[in-house]
Amino acid sequence: MVTLDITKASQFVGDAAINAFEGEVAKAQQALEDGTCPGNDFLGWMHLPSSITPEFISEINACAKTLQENCDAVVVAGIGGSYLGARMVIDALSNTFGWLQDSKYPRILFAGNNIGEDYLSELIGYLKGVRFGIINISKSGTTTETALTFRLLKTMCEEQRGKEEARKVIVAVTDAKRGAARTTADKEGYVSFVIPDNVGGRFSVLTPVGLLPIAVAGFDIAALVKGAREMEEQTSLEVPFRQNPAALYAATRNALYQSGKKIEILANYQPKLHNVGEWWKQLYGESEGKDGKGIFPASVDLTTDLHSMGQWIQDGERTIFETVLSVAQPNYELRVPADKENLDGLNFLAGKHVDEVNKMAELGTQLAHVDGGVPNIKFTIDRIDEYHIGQLIYMFEKGCGISGLLLKVNPFDQPGVEAYKKNMFALLGKPGYEKETESIKARL
Ligand code: PA5
Repeated sequence: MVTLDITKASQFVGDAAINAFEGEVAKAQQALEDGTCPGNDFLGWMHLPSSITPEFISEINACAKTLQENCDAVVVAGIGGSYLGARMVIDALSNTFGWLQDSKYPRILFAGNNIGEDYLSELIGYLKGVRFGIINISKSGTTTETALTFRLLKTMCEEQRGKEEARKVIVAVTDAKRGAARTTADKEGYVSFVIPDNVGGRFSVLTPVGLLPIAVAGFDIAALVKGAREMEEQTSLEVPFRQNPAALYAATRNALYQSGKKIEILANYQPKLHNVGEWWKQLYGESEGKDGKGIFPASVDLTTDLHSMGQWIQDGERTIFETVLSVAQPNYELRVPADKENLDGLNFLAGKHVDEVNKMAELGTQLAHVDGGVPNIKFTIDRIDEYHIGQLIYMFEKGCGISGLLLKVNPFDQPGVEAYKKNMFALLGKPGYEKETESIKARL
């Protein structure tokens, strides 16, 4: 279950300001449902969870099993929406120190999300002598970071295993027809999965983009999808505004934005949730940051960042609000031991759960930040597992679609991300960019 508490946000803007969005929210939800909103060719995520069949889950699990049986490491090559969802889920569900221990599942490594020569050299250095496979993920099939990485890894994999064997451990997740990744997959005979045309990158974690790597890592994708499916119901049109967490979240953050709060900080109190923040930043940043508008999405890991960003949050410019991801129950039990000498003075904590200390830090921080003028939205999930992460994913996706429409932008395009690519191709002299090369060189 995901619960939402906005009481410490509404005390800043008033309930009326939030409730005033109810009509607009209903219209936005109807437009998402009817496919009449801007970007309506990218609404495939809306009913994705309820459309995933057990057969499809089995197909993904079968492919994952082949990779598990034949690889000690699997490199997931992808960037942005073709990377962050899988990374978020795998990091949230994995044992933090699992990479230092033996495991029956392949080690999942991520690449294709940067162009660091040192990063790629070190990855290749590590993979020497390791039985590895590749999941090449790119919707367009032409993204430079991913394509360049895949070229390096494909060459290495073929050198290590021979072309025939390499084919069994290279999987493509890409467009059904277009792009270099599709051409390569078809020509080489790789197993491949299709990213539906109507699902944009940042909404694609519940397609094979996320499901395949998550399954290879050994996690229960059926439970992940179940969580998302139940949240699809809990955020549907029929659910009253105040009981629909996605609708209420969208309305609250827009009310705060209109009151001058331009930055939203997503805060977690569990290090495993760090990449939920990274995924969420892309989801909301790419969906809303356009036409000169949009809440700037930032994220912090607490209590860690209270010792670095805490001062700013408590006392800096009052243009921020905070959205906290709280986890009700840890998955383990660890109590603070008593100590006869009590040299550290911590005996007042003896016998308490570590999580109780964390929860008091969370509560104390919430009160301090609210006192400091920072409105607070709080989501609580019961625990960190596949089901609850699935719920969170769909809730944030739905909230994002509604929120973008309240802001009166197209939440499903990303024209801004093309600008750097055009300049990079011009600077690198890519064929077809001759004019741009000439004009950009004149500026240098
Ligand atoms: O959300 C988006 O569209 C982008 O972040 C893309 O996911 C990212 O650029 C990767 O694109 P592709 O999957 O085409 O390689």
